[in-house]
Parts: sequence; structure tokens; C-alpha cells
Amino acid sequence: MKRGSFNSRLGFILAASGSAVGLGNIWKFPFEVSNGGGAAFLIMYLFFCFILCFPVIVSEIAIGRNTKKNAIGAFNKMGKRNWNFIGKMGVLCGILILSFYTVVAGWVLGYVFEMINGNFSISENFGKYVNNTTNVILYSTLFMFLTALIVSRGIEKGIEKAAKILMPSLIVIIISLIIYALTLPNSIDGIIFYLVPDFSQINLNVAGNALGQAFFSLSLGMGMLITYGSYINDDNNIINSATLITLTDVGIAFLAGLIVFPFVFSSGIETQGGPGLIFQVFPQIFQDLGGITGIIVGSTFFILLSFAAITSTVSLLEVPVSYLVDEYKIERKYSVWIVAIIILFIGIPSALSQGKSIFFSKFITYFGSEKPIDFMQFIIDVSNDTLLPFGGFLITIYVAFVWKKNNLTEEISKGNPKYKGSLMEKYINFSITYVCPLILGSIFLLTFLNKFFGI
Ligand code: PHE
Repeated sequence: MKRGSFNSRLGFILAASGSAVGLGNIWKFPFEVSNGGGAAFLIMYLFFCFILCFPVIVSEIAIGRNTKKNAIGAFNKMGKRNWNFIGKMGVLCGILILSFYTVVAGWVLGYVFEMINGNFSISENFGKYVNNTTNVILYSTLFMFLTALIVSRGIEKGIEKAAKILMPSLIVIIISLIIYALTLPNSIDGIIFYLVPDFSQINLNVAGNALGQAFFSLSLGMGMLITYGSYINDDNNIINSATLITLTDVGIAFLAGLIVFPFVFSSGIETQGGPGLIFQVFPQIFQDLGGITGIIVGSTFFILLSFAAITSTVSLLEVPVSYLVDEYKIERKYSVWIVAIIILFIGIPSALSQGKSIFFSKFITYFGSEKPIDFMQFIIDVSNDTLLPFGGFLITIYVAFVWKKNNLTEEISKGNPKYKGSLMEKYINFSITYVCPLILGSIFLLTFLNKFFGI
């Protein structure tokens, strides 16, 4: 069976950046920043992305291109079957992420229509809105349907084409919204909160969240880049691609902050942070803009969010689909729909966990904590903040000590003849041998014990 591939280097970069840029940047990043002391969080996040995550990005793409296989098959192809548990963990993690991601994307899609109808009072009724289960499941299903439609068309005609249309539109929308946000009264207070660090807010928990956020936002540690990397040619310069993907992702998260914080501060609304941040605060701001301006800015904002989300859900779906297609020879069009339907069902508890079902809304209380957390937050804690950094940690160990650094160098050198002997090579090798295993490993371990066991 033909595997398909990206048609151009730009296509790959857009698709991989499309995966990276998503709800993580525009929905999750702002509330993580506001919970984590504004710029203090931002600085840690930037450090993690460039120093700890970059070598993992390069490693994942190299594994994918070298083997031309999915996240699990890649390890088998390299003759290291014992290590394919990294891929298995990644596929599982991708499925968990997609299950709650589709629910939030469903909220977003629903909001596009609410804004078009000028229903700004939705902000006071956010709690009611997310508990209108029929509605939420309907919109999530629609979102998953669109995702599956793109993935079923394959790499070049589906994923690459969607990214080529959606990513440029996204950038245009973002820039227009920033210009608009900066003209609002009090926007400067928002910028100050966002860019002047309050270091007293930094603690282990915040560091753990920043690490999880960096991995989540870069779509890292679960085999997405192994999968996308398996669809590129040997003339692709992996270092350049990785740099562009990181810069785009970090850049857009940063820019999203420049929209969100001026909006929040100019509205004068007390933020309680949390997942409701943009859903509760924004419609009120759009309302203040009045009539047709509010409708236009409001629906544009949620369309932006939907565009960002769908290029990510597409990549999340591609990881298990690619596994089924490669390993079980199940045709793409069947694999896509089977996986999509299963994941929709796995997402139901997340949809019910925002108040509708008491059981899922107070799902678990960690050791050393009194507050029960809901099912969706539990899945986020397990996948984003635990499995992703752990996956990244294992990938660097695998590349440095099992696959070996000289093989990594060979692979990267294919599209980048000057790589061998360069400073970049030394940096990557040093990082994956020492920095990533030690620092990534210890932050992961400490925050894991802290979060779940209160140690
Ligand atoms: N990076 C995406 C976001 O920021 C989420 C994602 C995680 C996508 C892992 C694919 C894999 O929204």
C-alpha cells in the first residue's frame, strides 16, 4: 500500500506548525500564564521550548524520516521492538488528548454560531452552555467529522492542503486582532501583566505546568512528529524545519497573549483563570463593542480558534490512523472513521465532567489535596503534564543510548551536509545525552510526585 507523503517542504512545515498551533496556544496558554504569574511563566515556557524541547523535536523527526513508519512501527523497523512501548504510550496519549480536545473544540465551534447570532450573554451562561450535553456532543461530533474528512483524504490532498489554506488565514486573523486589541482602553495594563515577571509566583507546580505546556503546545512526546516526519524526503533540512516549527508555535502563543490580556484588562473583568477564561470573558468584551462590530470581531475570534484547533486534531487523529494503516494494512478511509468514532465515545466522560455528571465532575482527589478534580482535568494531567514529558524523556534516552548519536547525525546530515561537526551537532548531542535526560527527567519526576502524591 502506498504510504503517501508531503508534496513540499513548506507543506510539511505548515502541517507540523498547524499541529503545534492549536487550542494549546490560544485557549490554554493564556490561562496557564495568568495562573502562573504572568511573565514568570512565559520565561520558563520559552526556556523549556528552546532548550529542552528543541532536541526532542529534531530526534522525533529524524526517527520518522529514517524509518518511514508510524510511531510504533518506527521502533520495530529499527529492530528495537522492546522500545516500541514509547510509541504505544504515544498513540494512547494522542487518543486521550484528542478525546478531550474534541470536546473543547466543540465548545469553540458552538461559540462561532452564538457570536454570529449576537448571543453575547452566553458568557454568564458558560456553565449552562457546557452542560447542554446534547449540544456539546453534537458540535464535537461535527468537529470530529470535519477532522476525519480531512485525514481520510490522505497526507498531500488532505492534511497538507488544509494546512496550506488554514495556516495563512490564521496568521492574518491573528494580526488583525492584535492591532485591534492594542487600541482598546487599558490594554497597556494587560501588556504589563503579561510581560513584567512576578518571580514570587514560581514554584514547582508552575514549573511542571510550564513544561507540560511546552510539550503540549509543540505536539511533542507522543509520536506526532515521528508520524509526520515519516512523510518527508531526505532532502528536507530537519534542523531548519524544527527551528521554523518551534518559532511559529512559540510566536503564535506569544501573539495570542497580546490579544487575550489587553482584552481581559480592558474589560475590567476579574479573571478567575481556568478553562473558562476566554469563553466567559470574551463575549462580554464583544458585547461592549456593540452591535455589528461585536458580531464581526467575536465570530472572527472563534473562527480563528476553530482553524487553529482543526489542524491539531487532524494530526492527533493521524497518529493512530497511520499505525493501523502501516501495521494492520487497514485502508485509510476505514481506519479514519473507526478511530474517530471510538475517540468520540472516549470523550463523553470529559463532556459530562463540567457539572453535568457529579461522578465525572468530582472524579478524583489526589493524595495530599482536598479538592476533587474533574475527569477532563484528570486526563489533561495524565496526558499533557505526565505522558508527554515522560515520552520526550524516553525518546532522548532512546536516541542517545540505543539508536546512538552517530545514527542521528547521519540522518540529519542527509538534508544538511554541513551538520556533521557543526556547533549544532555538538549542542544536540550534548542535550540528548545529558541535559534532556537529567533536567527533563528530574522536573518530570518531581512534578509527577508533587501533583499526584502531594510530595
Ligand atoms: N499542539 C496542540 C495545541 O497546542 C495540541 C497537540 C498536542 C496536538 C499533541 C497534537 C499532539 O493545541
